[in-house]
Parts: sequence; C-alpha cells; structure tokens
Amino acid sequence: MRSTRLTTGVVAGVAALGLTLTACGSDSGSGSGSDDGGSGGGDASEVEVFTWWAAGSEKAGLDALVDVFDQQHPDTEFINGAVAGGAGSAAKDLLQQRLQTNDPPDTFQAHAGAELQDYIDAAQIEDVSAQFEEYGLTDAVPQDLIDLLTTDDGAIYSIPSNIHRSNVVWANPTVIEGAGLDPEATYATIDDWIPALQAVQDSGKTPLSVGQAWTQVNLLETVLMSDLGADGYIGLWDGSTDWSSAEVTDALEDFQTLMSFTNTDRDGLDWPDATQQIIDGDAAFNVMGDWAEAAFEEQDMTDGEDYVHFPVPGTEDQFGFLADSFTLPVGAPHPGGSEAWLSTVASPEGQAAFNKAKGSIPARSDVDLSDFSEYQQSAAEDFTSTTIVPSLAHGAAAPVATLNDITDATSKFTSGSSDLATFQQEMAAAVNG
Ligand code: GAL
Repeated sequence: MRSTRLTTGVVAGVAALGLTLTACGSDSGSGSGSDDGGSGGGDASEVEVFTWWAAGSEKAGLDALVDVFDQQHPDTEFINGAVAGGAGSAAKDLLQQRLQTNDPPDTFQAHAGAELQDYIDAAQIEDVSAQFEEYGLTDAVPQDLIDLLTTDDGAIYSIPSNIHRSNVVWANPTVIEGAGLDPEATYATIDDWIPALQAVQDSGKTPLSVGQAWTQVNLLETVLMSDLGADGYIGLWDGSTDWSSAEVTDALEDFQTLMSFTNTDRDGLDWPDATQQIIDGDAAFNVMGDWAEAAFEEQDMTDGEDYVHFPVPGTEDQFGFLADSFTLPVGAPHPGGSEAWLSTVASPEGQAAFNKAKGSIPARSDVDLSDFSEYQQSAAEDFTSTTIVPSLAHGAAAPVATLNDITDATSKFTSGSSDLATFQQEMAAAVNG
C-alpha cells in the first residue's frame, strides 16, 4: 500500500521534473578508499563532518546521530565541522572554497536533487553505489528517492539521512484566538488566508513571522506551489511553466501581500528566531520546513495546544520535498572515517535517533515511527499520499547558482530595491539563464 501510493506521488513529481541526475563522469577514485566496496579502506582515525547543523534543535539532531556513531565506531573521532546559518546560507560558499582548494572535509551534507548534481558535475564527490548497497539501502529506501539519487548511468553519489517537508505553517493558537479567529481553522487558498492575517495585524501581533532571504525563498516556493498547483510548480523547473506568465505574476503578487504582513526585523533573523516568535506568542503564523517541529519539541511545546500546524493554504495535496544526504568527497583525508560516518547515517539506529530529534522522517522506510511525534507520523503518512514536489530553497529543484540568483532577486524585491516586474524578470533569467 505504502509503496504504491508513494510511487504515484513521487513519480508524478520526479518524472515530470526530470530530476534524475546526470553523471558527468568523475573517474577519479583516488584517495577515496572506496575501491574495496566500501568496507572502510583508508584512514579511519577521525572524520570531519561538514554540516550547517551548528546550534539549537539542528545541533540536537546531529548530536543524536553522533551518539550512535560513537557506539558503532568507537575508534573514529568525530570532528564537528558545522558552519552556522540555516539552509547552508553560509556553509555552502565556504564548502565550495574548500573543495576548490583541495581541502575537503571527510564528508559533507548535500541535498538530493539538483544541488547534488553540481558536486557530481564538478567531480567533487565519489560514487558510493557500492556502499549504498552494502548498507542495505537498496531495499530500505523508497525507489523514488533512489531514483532521485541515481545518475543516468546508474551511480549513486550520496547516502540519504532524512526527508523533510518545506510547505508547513506553524501557528500559535493563543495569538490566533486573541485576534478573534478559530485556532483550528485552515484555509483553502492564500487569498482565504489574507483576512486572518489582517485580523492578527489589527490585534497588534505579527501575522506572519519570517527571517532572512533564504526563509523568504522558502515562503515564496510555497506560494508558487499553492497558486500554480503541483503540475504548474513542477513546470517551473522542467520548462513547461513560463516564468513570465500572468499566473506567475499573480503568485508573486500574493507573495508580496504575504510579505506585507511580516516582521520588519526579518533580514537580521535566521529560521530559529522567526519560529521562536510563534513559541513566544509574538506572531501568529510562520511558514517553515518541518525542522521547525524539532524546535517546538525541544522547548516542550505540546502539539495541538501550544502550537498547531497545517500545510500552507492550497498545498495540502503537495509534499515540498527535500532530503539531506552525506557524501564522500574526492580526496577526503580520512576516507575510512568517511565510510564509518556514511554507514552510521545509513543504519536503522542512526536514522531513528537522528530523525526523531530532527523533525524529519527517515529515508529508510523500515524504521519504527511509533515513538516519533504526532507531526512526524502525519508527515510520513502525507509523504505516501500527496504529490512530491521539489523544494527550491533546499536544493531539490534547482542548482546552487540558480538558487543564489533567485535568493538575490528575492532579497532585492523584499527590501524594496526592485519592483515586481523586475523581480519576475530576474527570476525568469535565473532559471532560464
Ligand atoms: C535545510 C536542511 C535541513 C535544515 C534546514 C534549516 O536546507 O535540509 O536539514 O537544516 O536547512 O537549516
């Protein structure tokens, strides 16, 4: 049952998107230690793990994974190479500098989809197909996620750790009630949501909390999903939806309207600060990926009482998909350590501990979710019953360069340095080149 419904959803999204990766042929196996089928050749004394899970609930997720790693690989020292900044906003540039100067970490976090393709094209990561199989992932990971990770010539270049959803509204029921609204209400469309945002505004609270540019892009992608529908949104990435069309203009207008209800200090805030405004009762709504669930859990908020959540209005039939995965960089200094880390990431124990703390669902479908949060269990259900659409802000839909251009265009627009027509032109140019 699960796999049938999952296949329907993911295939609709992924096939239409043409997301299958294209190998560009790194034939470099040197220094990888992967020539023995992944059983840990090379220096395993330590492993530098490069992520952006540097603080708060994200660090708690990483710590949970490290605990399992320490049990499974007591002789390999974990070196935390985390660089702060949500969505890799600071980490990715730094990583690129390191890769280009032949100073790679032993493993780094990369999103499944277009972002991973960048590293493959640049011959910066090794083929880990043998390890993928050795770790038992071939049978445990849904075929559709495997397809997302597999290049045209059948190779796999990363080990997936989790699946996150990008299109979730997190809300404070007390603030909503204080504005005279029903805290259990959901809204069918962005348009339907606007009067509620206005009511919160009139009550003196922040209607919609947001943070710096990448969080605004996260909001933007969900508005595009809502207004264009799954097919139209997927079409933005496979070329079948025209970025210059009136439909996209309408969606950008809705984005502009939503931004007019946000906190003015947004550009100085990262996602935890924006989500904290919900926790602290300063704001009513926040749109964020479901790593936010971990922040609510970490602060002992009770689902349904202290906070509520629902898919962004108009996107309940879509799962804004992203998956973190870990790589074996070309020239990793401790390839045995890299493989030790990858094997823990792949293990049922690692996936259970990490995902429970991270707010995500495991990439393996054989992990028992009975002690996962109510939200996570519902996300696992939704993953099997909705259409999977790729996240823009988190590497699934577009290469890093395109995302960077879109982020710059968004930032110019929301800070008042460009008008809507210019914004739309710049988005079209970012995607179409
Ligand atoms: C995403 C990443 C998530 C989470 C989030 C916020 O790109 O996939 O795991 O860390 O950024 O930083």
